[in-house]
Order: sequence, then C-alpha cells, then structure tokens
Amino acid sequence: MWEKNDIREILISENEIQERAKQLGEQITKDYSSKKPLLVGLLRGSVPFLADLMKNIDLDIQFDTMDVSSYEGTESVGEIRILKDLDTPIKGLDIILVEDIVDTGRTLQTVKNTLLHRGAASVTICTLLNKSARRTVDIQADYIGFEVADEFVVGYGMDFNQKYRCLPYIGVLNAECYE
Ligand code: IMP
Ligand code: MG
Repeated sequence: MWEKNDIREILISENEIQERAKQLGEQITKDYSSKKPLLVGLLRGSVPFLADLMKNIDLDIQFDTMDVSSYEGTESVGEIRILKDLDTPIKGLDIILVEDIVDTGRTLQTVKNTLLHRGAASVTICTLLNKSARRTVDIQADYIGFEVADEFVVGYGMDFNQKYRCLPYIGVLNAECYE
C-alpha cells in the first residue's frame, strides 16, 4: 500500500515549510552578513530542508554533510556514531548545523561539541522542527522552523524505518504503523 495512507494527519504543509525556509534564510542572511558560513546538513533527514534553506541564503555559502546515528525505530538507543564525516576542513569556519528535528538534543550536542573541538569559529543550529518537550540535554537551536508536540512525525526528510522521507509535507503516522 502506498505510504500516504499511513498518515493520520498533515501537521505542516509543503507551502508552510517553503515559506518558513524563506524566512529563516533571510534571517541567516542578515545575521551572517559579512561572513561565509558553511552549512552542515545531518544526513539523511535534513536533505530537503537543507536544499530549501540554502536557496534562500543570499551569501557566499558552501555546504557539507555528516551522517551520525543513534536511532532505530522510534526510540533513541545508545551512543551517537559518526557514519560519514565532513570533507571540509573546518578550522576557523562559522558553521550552521542544519537538522530536521531536535528531539532529546543529544545528536546536536555531540556534533556541536565535536565541531567546536576541531576549531570551528562558531557553531549555530538551524532546525526545521523542535520537539522541546523531549529535551534531555541543555542545548538550544538558534533558528527553529516550527515547534511540534511530542508526537512521532514523518515526511520532508524524516523517516520511520527509512520510509516516508520523500513526502513533501510533515505528518503524523497512524499508531498501527509503528506499534
Ligand atoms: P536527538 O538526538 O534525540 O535530538 O535525535 C534527533 C534525531 O532523531 C533526528 O535527527 C531524527 O533523525 C530523529 N527523530 C527524532 N524525533 C523524530 C520524529 O518524530 N520523527 C522522525 N525522526 C525523529
Ligand atoms: Mg536526524
């Protein structure tokens, strides 16, 4: 059966996401006006958001990607592992970490600390979604697309067991799809 039937509710439409990506891009353009930030997208969830965001940043930017993992199914397990590292030397660079969703915050805390330790001049966080109710570590995103409630969401990069990433909107899964 096609995945669309698994979506209980559309939380954020494609148009709303595009509009918010534009606003965030404009804000970043202002905040980094004399700089050349490196966008670092965390694979794979950030890919659609990264693509929309970078089109709306009117600066001399570059981007790179990293793949870190701690997730299987809907629950966070164990340590964060670097599966694919950056190709860019980052010493002295201003970095904007781009993420699909901040949940417990452990992924971004670990990645941010790693990049600062490697000599990045600054590291800020731009996340499409923020699930602040689930935060377990003290980390805040500098740019947030939307706040979401403590529900498991999919689409626009976000998956459940690698499915649903390519949906153009963000939706909530029917419970029977992950129970
Ligand atoms: P954290 O380290 O707990 O903040 O985990 C963040 C990562 O968990 C995100 O990049 C997603 O890959 C995944 N994640 C957290 N919540 C959701 C969700 O509701 N749907 C899909 N993936 C999620
Ligand atoms: Mg992720």
